[in-house]
Amino acid sequence: MTGTRHQVGLLLGTEEDWPRAFETILGRLGPVAGTGGVKHVFECERLSIEPFNLRDQPRYDLVIDRLAYWYYQPREWLKKVSMMNGVYLLNNPFTFQSMEKHTAYCAMMRLGLKVPETVLVPYKNPVDNARYAYTAAKYNQPFDLDAIAEQIGYPLFMKPFDGGGWRGVSKIRNPAELHAAYDASGEMLMHLQQCIDFDVFSRSLSIGPETMVMRFQPDQPMHQRYQVDHDFLSPQAGAEAVTIGRLVNAFFRWEFNSCETLIKDGEVYPIDYANACPDVALTSLHYYFPWAMKALVKWCVFVLATARRPKLDLDTDRFFEVADDAGLSYDDKLGVYRELADAYFETERYEDFCATSLSHIDEIVLDWVAGPDFDDLLVQTVRAGFPPHEHDQFIAHFRGLLALWVRDEDARVRSA
Ligand SMILES: Nc1ncnc2c1ncn2[C@@H]1O[C@H](COP(=O)(O)OP(=O)(O)O)[C@@H](O)[C@H]1O
Ligand SMILES: [Mg+2]
Repeated sequence: MTGTRHQVGLLLGTEEDWPRAFETILGRLGPVAGTGGVKHVFECERLSIEPFNLRDQPRYDLVIDRLAYWYYQPREWLKKVSMMNGVYLLNNPFTFQSMEKHTAYCAMMRLGLKVPETVLVPYKNPVDNARYAYTAAKYNQPFDLDAIAEQIGYPLFMKPFDGGGWRGVSKIRNPAELHAAYDASGEMLMHLQQCIDFDVFSRSLSIGPETMVMRFQPDQPMHQRYQVDHDFLSPQAGAEAVTIGRLVNAFFRWEFNSCETLIKDGEVYPIDYANACPDVALTSLHYYFPWAMKALVKWCVFVLATARRPKLDLDTDRFFEVADDAGLSYDDKLGVYRELADAYFETERYEDFCATSLSHIDEIVLDWVAGPDFDDLLVQTVRAGFPPHEHDQFIAHFRGLLALWVRDEDARVRSA
């Protein structure tokens, strides 16, 4: 079938599970009818890394990036194709600098969110620069680490300003632990942060205008961190978690990101929400994996079929005006932030598009997850990620969770 062709590129590190899922769903979906009877045809390809001329014309219309957060040559390619060729990226490559927690904390504090008290302290060890000794001797102020900790109050968290994957995170209960952790921080730049003694930990995953709020248990091993639990937050806290996740994303132009919030006595405290292009492994998300893959395909198809243009500028004033409006309460501000986020993500247009052009995707995904092809993906993924003596146990574990999803989804699709 002829039609408007769109090329999707996947920029990948080591993962095999979600790319295969994405490729399969997109392939099974086939051509999609857009407005005016235009057929949209989608092709998907994994990118390789090679020299590029800055004036080269890329083949891709949209790229999902799971690599450039640590691999800088493809990161520079992303910036080039974004700036020069208008390639649509998940996510905006000009906000990599904000993917350290620090900038995201500053932004959400500026917007009035309940980010816990946070102090940035200077490096423990000298940084590797010939000018450091002179500059530090002249300008570094001595400071009282104990006094800072006491002001925040024990227990507190010490963690890197640019953290991820729990590297260098410690809970500090007393001055001895404080000094031990600071001494061990070496050349990492650290935040001290007020500890929230939370009742519930929620981790939400947002893809475009879709958000899944999941109950998270940080002290469990990876495969048990996401708990299948549908009503673990009050409607109000649940809506707040959704709004915060989408607000962060609309603010930074991130379209594929996860957001961690701690809920204590009904108050929602965001603590970690600069995880653009986050882990979506089958073995982490399990029950929620089909949802994530479907949302990713839907959003990419919507973007391409409706010729949505990437936005590279942040236009922060729109958000700051709301933050600075003394006549608005916290809840009022959340309401306006939600409207701004929905406008950025074109939520209504997206929902219309899904209802008219993608009405068959639920059944396609359900059929795939219930069938042998998905089971093979599950088995291969477990075999690649777990030691041989654990294969049977984990294959059974994940099969059980995905069978539960199939049951729930089947009931939902039938009743729709
Ligand atoms: N302020 C805090 N209050 C309570 N727990 C926290 C706080 N900050 C971090 N934690 C705990 O430490 C974990 C790792 O911290 P986080 O900021 O999410 O770093 P990372 O980016 O490495 O995931 C969190 O999942 C949470 O369990
Ligand atoms: Mg985290």
